Amino acid sequence: MSDPKIVKLLDESSNRSSELPLVSGTLGPACIDIGTLYKDTGHFTYDPGFGSTASTKSAITYIDGDKGVLLYRGYPIEQLAENSSFLEVAYLLLNGELPKPAEFASFEHDVSHHTMMHESLKNFFQGFHHDAHPMAMLAAAVASLSAFYHDDLSVDDPADRKLAAIRLIAKMPTIAAACYRYSVGWPLRYPRNNLEYVDRFLHMMFEVPSEPLQMNPVAAKALDLLFILHADHEQNASTSTVRLVGSTGANPYASIAAGITALWGPAHGGANEAVLKQLEEIGTPDNVESAILRAKDKNDSFRLMGFGHRVYKNFDPRAKIIREMCHKVLAELGVNDPLLDVAMKLEEAALKDDYFVERKLYPNVDFYSGIIYKALGIPTEMFTVMFAIARTSGWIAHWIEQHETPGSRIGRPRQVYTGADVRDYVPTARR
Ligand code: SDX
Repeated sequence: MSDPKIVKLLDESSNRSSELPLVSGTLGPACIDIGTLYKDTGHFTYDPGFGSTASTKSAITYIDGDKGVLLYRGYPIEQLAENSSFLEVAYLLLNGELPKPAEFASFEHDVSHHTMMHESLKNFFQGFHHDAHPMAMLAAAVASLSAFYHDDLSVDDPADRKLAAIRLIAKMPTIAAACYRYSVGWPLRYPRNNLEYVDRFLHMMFEVPSEPLQMNPVAAKALDLLFILHADHEQNASTSTVRLVGSTGANPYASIAAGITALWGPAHGGANEAVLKQLEEIGTPDNVESAILRAKDKNDSFRLMGFGHRVYKNFDPRAKIIREMCHKVLAELGVNDPLLDVAMKLEEAALKDDYFVERKLYPNVDFYSGIIYKALGIPTEMFTVMFAIARTSGWIAHWIEQHETPGSRIGRPRQVYTGADVRDYVPTARR
C-alpha cells in the first residue's frame, strides 16, 4: 500500500521520478510539496495566476471558495461582523487571539497615539497635481514613511515590527483623509485622539473650519463594518505582493506601499470604484440586459465589475453581508440611490444567466460596497483608499507572520522561456 502522504511522479520521457510529500493544514486541501521536483526531474511547475499554487503556510485567514466560508483566525466573518469592531479585528489578525479588555485598551491607546504624520509629510501633498488620484497619493505617502523610520527599524526585531504595525494601522486614516482634503482644497485636519478609530477618520475627512462636524453613528457603524469585511483575505494579489516585497527584507512601509499599488488594479481592489462607474454608465434597470450581453461577449472587453472571484465559486460571504447593509444603511440615512435598484437588477439577471451560472460568477465584496461609501459621502475615487485602510491590518499581519516564520526565503519564481535561442551579435553594418 503506497504511503497516502506521498505523491509519486514519473517522467516517462526521461524515466526520472520524484516522491513528493503532501502538506496538510488545519482546514482545506492538502498541498503537494514540490520543493525537490526540479532536482529530481529537471522540471519546473507552470501555473500562471497561481490558480493551483499555495505560496506559503499561514494561520491568519481561511477561505473555502466552494462553501463561501471566510474565517479570520478561525472566527467566521459573519460572527465578527455581528459582534466585533475593526480595531478588535486588527488586533485579532495581528495577535491570533481576541483581546482581553486590558489588551485591547493598550492596543487602542498605542494606535491612538501614533495617528499623527510628520509635519513635513504634509508638504508632500503640495507636490501633487490638484486632481491626482488619491490612490497615487496614498501609495507615495506610505512609501515615504520609510524615509522617516528607516534608520530606527530592524525587520528582525519583533518590537520594531510591532511598532511598524501600530504606526501603519494608526496613520493610514490620517494619510487617507489628507489625500481627500488635498483633492477638495480643504485644510488638513489633525487626528482627535479622544475619538474612536472610525469616528476619528470621519472627523479628519469631513470636518470643515466653518462648523463642527455632527458625528453620525450610523455612518460610523457602517464604515467600521466595511473595514472588518475588507481587513484580510488570505493570499490575494496585494497580500502576495506585500509578502514578495517583504521576502527581500524591504522595510514594512515599502512593503505596504507595494500592496497599495497592487490593490489599485480594477481586477482587484480597484473594482469597487469601477463598479460604481459601471452602475452609473448602465444608468437604469432597463439597460441591465444589454450590460449582461456585453459582459458575455468575448469580443467585448467589458466585464461585470464586482462579479466573479478566483476563489469564491459561491457567494462571497462579505457580499451577502454588504448587500443586506445597503438596504439598512441607506434607509437609516434616508438615502434613496437608484443605483441600488440597478445593482439588484444586475445581480438578479446575472444569477439567472447560464453564462454566469456555468462559470460560478457571483457578486464579490466590491459589488455593493461602493453604494454604501457613496451614501456616506465618500467620493468614488476614494473607494479603493477605504479598502486599503482596512486591508493594511491584514497586509501587516502577513508581513509579520512571514518574518516570524523560521527559514523564510526570498520569493523568486522561475519561468517558461519562449524567447530567441542563443545567437551571435550582428554588427550594425551587417543588419
Ligand atoms: C477582489 O483574491 C482576492 O481574495 C481578492 C479580494 C480580496 O478581498 O482581496 O476578494 C478582492 O479583488 C475581488 C475581485 C474584484 N474584481 C472584480 O470584481 C473584477 C471583475 N472580476 C473579474 O475580472 C474576475 O472575476 C476576477 C479577476 C475577479 C477573477 O479572475 P479569474 O479567476 O482569473 O477568472 P477568469 O478571468 O479566468 O474568468 C473565468 C471565466 C472567463 O470566461 P471563459 O474564458 O471561461 O469563457 O469567467 C469570465 C471570464 O471571461 N469572467 C467574467 C467575469 N469574471 C470572470 N465574465 C464577465 N464578467 C466578469 N466579472
